[in-house]
Amino acid sequence: RPWTVALMFTLLWMQVNCTTGTTSKLCFPSSFMFGVATASYQIEGAWNVSGKGENIWDRYTHTRPERIFDHGTGDVAADSYHQFRQDVRLLKELGVRFYRFSMSWSRILPTGLTNEVNPDGIRYYKELIEELHKNGIEPLVTMYHWDLPQSLQDLGGWTNPVIADYFVDYAKVLLDNFGDRVKFWLTFNEPLSFCHDGYGGSDAPGDRATGMEDYLCGHTVLRAHAAVYRMFQRDYNHRITDLMGITLDMAWIEPASTSAEDKEAAEITRQFFFGWFPHPIFSKQGDYPPVMRKRIDEMSKRQNFTRSRLPHFTKEEVKMLRGACDFLGLNHYTTYLAKRVQRPLSPIPSFDDDMGVQLSQKADWPKSNSTWLKVVPWGLRKTLNWIKGTYGNPPVFITENGISLEPGLRDPRRINYIDGYLRALHAALTKDKCNVYGYTYWSLIDNFEWTRGYSERFGLYEVDYSSKQRVRTARQSAEYYSSVATTKCLPD
Ligand code: NOJ
Repeated sequence: RPWTVALMFTLLWMQVNCTTGTTSKLCFPSSFMFGVATASYQIEGAWNVSGKGENIWDRYTHTRPERIFDHGTGDVAADSYHQFRQDVRLLKELGVRFYRFSMSWSRILPTGLTNEVNPDGIRYYKELIEELHKNGIEPLVTMYHWDLPQSLQDLGGWTNPVIADYFVDYAKVLLDNFGDRVKFWLTFNEPLSFCHDGYGGSDAPGDRATGMEDYLCGHTVLRAHAAVYRMFQRDYNHRITDLMGITLDMAWIEPASTSAEDKEAAEITRQFFFGWFPHPIFSKQGDYPPVMRKRIDEMSKRQNFTRSRLPHFTKEEVKMLRGACDFLGLNHYTTYLAKRVQRPLSPIPSFDDDMGVQLSQKADWPKSNSTWLKVVPWGLRKTLNWIKGTYGNPPVFITENGISLEPGLRDPRRINYIDGYLRALHAALTKDKCNVYGYTYWSLIDNFEWTRGYSERFGLYEVDYSSKQRVRTARQSAEYYSSVATTKCLPD
C-alpha cells in the first residue's frame, strides 16, 4: 500500500511543478480532485419510509425539540431520498469529480441489533451510486455521519465498547454490497464532534452524567475504526488501489497573545483537542497524545476517580491503530485563539477542564451565519503544515470546508471564502509541499444543520423548503466553484 500512495504522490508532484511552471494563474495539478459533500440525516428525509429504523437524531429532534434552534427535524430535510437524481444532475452541472455522501446505518440495518438487512436501503444507495457512475462521478462514502440506530444508543451508544463490534458488522454489510463499486471510503465523520458534543454537550444523544462519556465514546470509535480498516485491508481491497480513511475535524489554533503561557496553551489544544483522534493513527508512537494522557490522568486523581477517565489501549490495540489509514480526511472551517485558564473543578468533570484552555475568536475576523465560524484562510495553510510536521506528511484529503450565509442566490461572501481557502491550500501544496490530493466543499445543497436546524445554509444550491420537491436553485458560488472544479485554476 505505501507504494500505491507514493506513486500517486509522485505523479501529483510532477504535475504541480509542471502546472505552476507554465502559467501565471494559480492552478492545481490535473489529478487534484474537487468535489462536494452531504450527509444522510442532513439531506435524505424519508425518516420512516421503506423500512428505515429510528436513529438517535430522529429520537432527539422528536423528543427534545427545544434543543433544536428552529425546532426542525430531518423528517423531510431536502428529501434527497426521493430527489437524488436531481442532486446528481447538480453534481454533473458543477463538473465535480466526486461526491462525498454518507450511508444511513438504520436505513441499512433498521434495528441495528439484528442482521436483517433492509433491501430498500441497499436498493437506494445502489441506485444513487449507479446514477453517479453514469455521470462520471466517483462516490466517496462515509460509513458513519452521526446517525446511530436508536437501539444501539439504548445500549449506551458509543460509550459501550460492544458497539465497535456492531460497527464492524455494519461495515461488512456495506463492503459486501457496495465494495465492488465504491473505491473511496471513510469510516467516521468527525468523532471529535460527535463524542465531545454528542456525549458531552448539546448534540444527540445529548446528555452526560459522569464526565467520562466523551472519552469512552472516542475509545470505542478508535477501536472500531482500526477493526474496520484491518478488515478492509485483509478481505476487501482486492483492487489494491481502493482507499479507506477517516474524517477528522481540526480548526487552527493560534495563541491569544505572545506570552509563553498562551503559546503553550495553543500547542496543548492542537495536541490534545485536535490530536485526540489522529495521534493514535498517524503518529509514530501511536496511542493517545502524551499531553492528553498526562492531563486527564492528573485531573482524574484530583477528582478522586479510582481510575483515569481516559481508558487505556492494550499493546495490540495500539499496534492495530498505528497506520490504520490510507489518508487523513480533514474537515477545516475556521481558526481560534487559545488562552491558558485555571478553572475551578466542575461538579461533572469535563473535557474543557482537563484541557485548561479558553478558546475565542478575533472580533474583526469576517463573520458567517454560524457563531463559531469566522473566515481565516491562512489557518488552513497552518493546519496543513502542522499535520505535515506532526504526523510526517501523511496523504490528506480535505473532506469539508465551507461557510453558512443568509438565504439568497447572490453570495459573493461564499465565493470569497472558497477562493481564500483555495489560495491558502494552493500555497500549502506548492510552496510547503503538504500532501493534499482533494478538496470538498460543504455542502452541495442547503440542509439540516443539526442543533441549528435549517437556520444555517451552507449550500452551493439553495433549497426551497416551502416546495414539496424541495426545489434546488444554483447560487452564484455554484458557478464559481464549477469553473474551479473544471479548469483546476483559480480566477485571476
Ligand atoms: C461538520 C459536519 O461534518 C457537518 O455535518 C456539518 O453540517 C458541517 N460541519 C457544518 O457545520
